[in-house]
Amino acid sequence: MTITLAFDVYGTLIDTHGVVIALEKHVGNKAPEFSRTWRDKQLEYSFRRGLMQNYENFAICTRNALDYTCSFCNVVLSQNDKEELLGAYKVLPAFDDVEEGLTRAKKAGFKMFAFSNGSAEAVETLLSNAGIRGYFIDVVSVDEMKSYKPNPGVYCHFLRRAGATGSDAWLISGNPFDVIGALSSGMRAAWIKRSPEALFDPWGIEPTLTLNSLLNLAEQIGKE
Ligand code: 2OP
Repeated sequence: MTITLAFDVYGTLIDTHGVVIALEKHVGNKAPEFSRTWRDKQLEYSFRRGLMQNYENFAICTRNALDYTCSFCNVVLSQNDKEELLGAYKVLPAFDDVEEGLTRAKKAGFKMFAFSNGSAEAVETLLSNAGIRGYFIDVVSVDEMKSYKPNPGVYCHFLRRAGATGSDAWLISGNPFDVIGALSSGMRAAWIKRSPEALFDPWGIEPTLTLNSLLNLAEQIGKE
């Protein structure tokens, strides 16, 4: 049986806080707090749009969250500044362990996909810029379903698109809500806990595997 891996993108392959350098120019030492609020609000907007069945693509969630964060942090940015920051969001860096982890997983023979809230076009650009597009058979976007993670429908959609079943497919994600979403939809899931301080939601649903980077992913999944 060939194992299929669905790699989450923002927060798993790609470091959303890579925007901090661009932010420092505009908001100085508020950059880390600004970046965290921006990301949290972006996800909250995606959850709410999914629940309300009021879908707009992820770039709109990112843009609306940037406006909210400016007000929240008492920062005034010109339209040009905002466009510059939204531009920086399209060319974020991969985490340091990603290239080696993906190389090992590819060598082990897994069928690898990128699976994201981002539109296919945005994810293609992001992965190409980070030099890692070539590892994936395809990019599967929730945009095809006009909903967001963790709607169970988007995980089922992934399985259909990848030609996989829940028992032979893993979600690989740094986002606990995504891990719980995949497990609840019958997939297995590895939580990538890069920071020792990262917390998992206490819902009584545990990741199949917890790893501190992608480096040992292939080896550990091979043992399951
Ligand atoms: C992604 O789907 C959850 O933002 C994350 O790429």
